[in-house]
Amino acid sequence: MTKPTDEMIEAIVQAHRRDRFGDDVIGEDEVVNELQEKAARLLGKEAALLVTSGTQGNVVSLLAHTRRGDEVVVEERSHTFLFEAGAMSSLGGLFPKPVPGVRGYITPETLEAAINIDDPHYAHTALVVLENTHNYAGGTVTTPEQVRALATVAHEHGLKVHCDGARLFNAAVALDTPAERLVRDVDSVMICLSKGLSAPVGSIVAGTEEFIHHAHRVRKRLGGGMRQAGIIAAPGLIALEKMVARLREDHENARRLYRRLTEIPGLTVEEPETNIVFIGLEGSRIDAPRFSEELRKRGVLVYGKHGTRVRFVLHRMVTAEDVDVAADAVADVLRQYR
Ligand SMILES: Cc1ncc(COP(=O)(O)O)c(C=O)c1O
Repeated sequence: MTKPTDEMIEAIVQAHRRDRFGDDVIGEDEVVNELQEKAARLLGKEAALLVTSGTQGNVVSLLAHTRRGDEVVVEERSHTFLFEAGAMSSLGGLFPKPVPGVRGYITPETLEAAINIDDPHYAHTALVVLENTHNYAGGTVTTPEQVRALATVAHEHGLKVHCDGARLFNAAVALDTPAERLVRDVDSVMICLSKGLSAPVGSIVAGTEEFIHHAHRVRKRLGGGMRQAGIIAAPGLIALEKMVARLREDHENARRLYRRLTEIPGLTVEEPETNIVFIGLEGSRIDAPRFSEELRKRGVLVYGKHGTRVRFVLHRMVTAEDVDVAADAVADVLRQYR
């Protein structure tokens, strides 16, 4: 829900004045090229590609790594499995194998047990997807050591590893480690320039030159080739250069919200690791959609479309004072539904 910063809008204007926009479909937008080179360097990969969204970045990556009929191991609450409208199956002919994670992390043992034997009865298990941070598990962080352990098992069995890093920089900041370390052992990564980093549009896919060459064709197939995409890349550069370090504030605000919410009776509150706080409403008489609606009336926007679990996301446009206002609003709603 972030909006671009003034500096991002100014970057678009400046790039236009300096005549840096061109046709990216034929690789001639200077700003896109600069963004892709910068992102590749930052992520320690050979090459990178600008894509329209996180979903497109994941789908491009999954399709670029696989062939129709292949199986993909995914965590059962992952974005690639739950929230991409079945894209891997409908567009790629891929067969998802959902497995349980531990706070969103697929353990090496779970992965090993999920990989099919090489037998014509079974689909060929080609890929595993890791989500870092893991949205639905609560913005949880996977460490470089955990990534390596998972990738080692995957690679021993000939699988590729894709990291859905929509919020990779939140993990990097939480662990106080460079993002590059978190993706050293994976074959591809997708990061979002929007969301916490505040760019209005865009995501990046990164990997080897060969992978990106292939991903480029898949992006085209999906209609993701854009003309003067520098308009998107210019704010994207500011996102990577200026917006990462401040994610720490969002994590502090998440802790503040957590502390405030734990004081409210009738709630279960999941302890945050980054900028996401989930609550459970089982102890009250209100469900997530009604609760979200009541909060919206009080000026607080949360995500809770079904069931009793509700997501709060902290970002640049939510201050510590806003957190207190939100916590008061939650208390007010629950007083009425206890
Ligand atoms: C973990 C994760 N991956 C991918 C995406 C998809 O990003 P987009 O909404 O840009 O398609 C999201 C979006 O919330 C996400 O949370």
